[in-house]
Amino acid sequence: PVYASFRSIGAYVPSRILSNEDLEKMVDTTDEWIVKRTGIKERHIAAEDEYTSDMGAKAAELAIERAGIAKEDIDLVLCATVTPDYFNMPSTACIISDKLGIRNVQAFDISAACSGFVYLLSLAKAFIESGMKKNVLVIGAEKFSSIVDYTDRSTCILFGDGAGSAVISATDNKEEGFIDVHASADGSYADFLVTPAPGAIHPVSEKVIEEGLNFVQMKGNETFKLAVKTLTKDVKEILAKNEINSEDIPHFIPHQANYRIIKAVGDALKMREEQVVLTVHKYGNTSAASIPMAINDIWESGRLKQGELMLLDTFGGGLTWASALLPF
Ligand code: ACO
Repeated sequence: PVYASFRSIGAYVPSRILSNEDLEKMVDTTDEWIVKRTGIKERHIAAEDEYTSDMGAKAAELAIERAGIAKEDIDLVLCATVTPDYFNMPSTACIISDKLGIRNVQAFDISAACSGFVYLLSLAKAFIESGMKKNVLVIGAEKFSSIVDYTDRSTCILFGDGAGSAVISATDNKEEGFIDVHASADGSYADFLVTPAPGAIHPVSEKVIEEGLNFVQMKGNETFKLAVKTLTKDVKEILAKNEINSEDIPHFIPHQANYRIIKAVGDALKMREEQVVLTVHKYGNTSAASIPMAINDIWESGRLKQGELMLLDTFGGGLTWASALLPF
């Protein structure tokens, strides 16, 4: 049999920083409120002419280089984003492939909001373990600032831009392979996180601009409670199914949306502080990029070593959620 293995990681963070102090000048908020309610100190914002595909291509370039393979060896390019360069076509995966000089391979986007990267891991696993592909390039990239209303204090403090990417390769060594990936959704909570336009229901019109339908809308408090419940349940299930104890996970890497959500989930799972990876203070919520950016962070700092077990856990608009158990 053939197994899917995590071969390399890369990330890109735009240079411009938007701090809580900057936001204090834009909306009625304070650094103290933001830190207390979210744990976020600052987030990075892409330049005006820097798009999701630019950030995704930079992260992917690094991942390929670190994988030690040639671009020609990539046989599938998958991108998760809710802030694509173009809403309908072409896909951001096609644009990234072109920027990397990867041609004549299957490339497409998926839409699973913040769960996007872990959803991609489930796809990469399926493509590789079925024998259809050998080296899958997965990318989570977001220019979330492009759908944020910077006059709405309840959302503009939360989000940031960035990208992360990984190369997932076929191996016949079971020890290197993914242990498990769960991905799920419940569309009855679709109205918790919505960007109403543009789409078939709200095509571009003056109404869209007047009513700000192109911006993200969120039921923050309801999302918060559901996130804690869903993330905890999801992790308990994947650990029980694979007979692994939460104390034995060296790297618990949850979606970076809010420190209080991460703390509540970590406590419910009886995780020690040093097991839990935190980057939300410096990047905010970067949606599909959040988990690969966090993996890149701990790998670059030397905290994550080859072969060490990672537990990924995420939730997002849809409502979608997903978890994964895999060695780095
Ligand atoms: N500064 C100051 N006050 C604020 C701000 C702000 N930036 N934002 C909201 N407030 C006020 C509200 O107006 C409200 O005032 P009121 O009591 O006078 O009405 C008060 O603070 C409390 O508001 P809540 O929304 O109840 O605050 P809460 O503790 O829930 O925190 C937050 C809000 C941070 C948004 C939290 O609910 C949250 O993080 N939710 C989860 C969001 C999330 O994870 N979303 C991402 C999902 S992933 C994806 O797919 C994109």
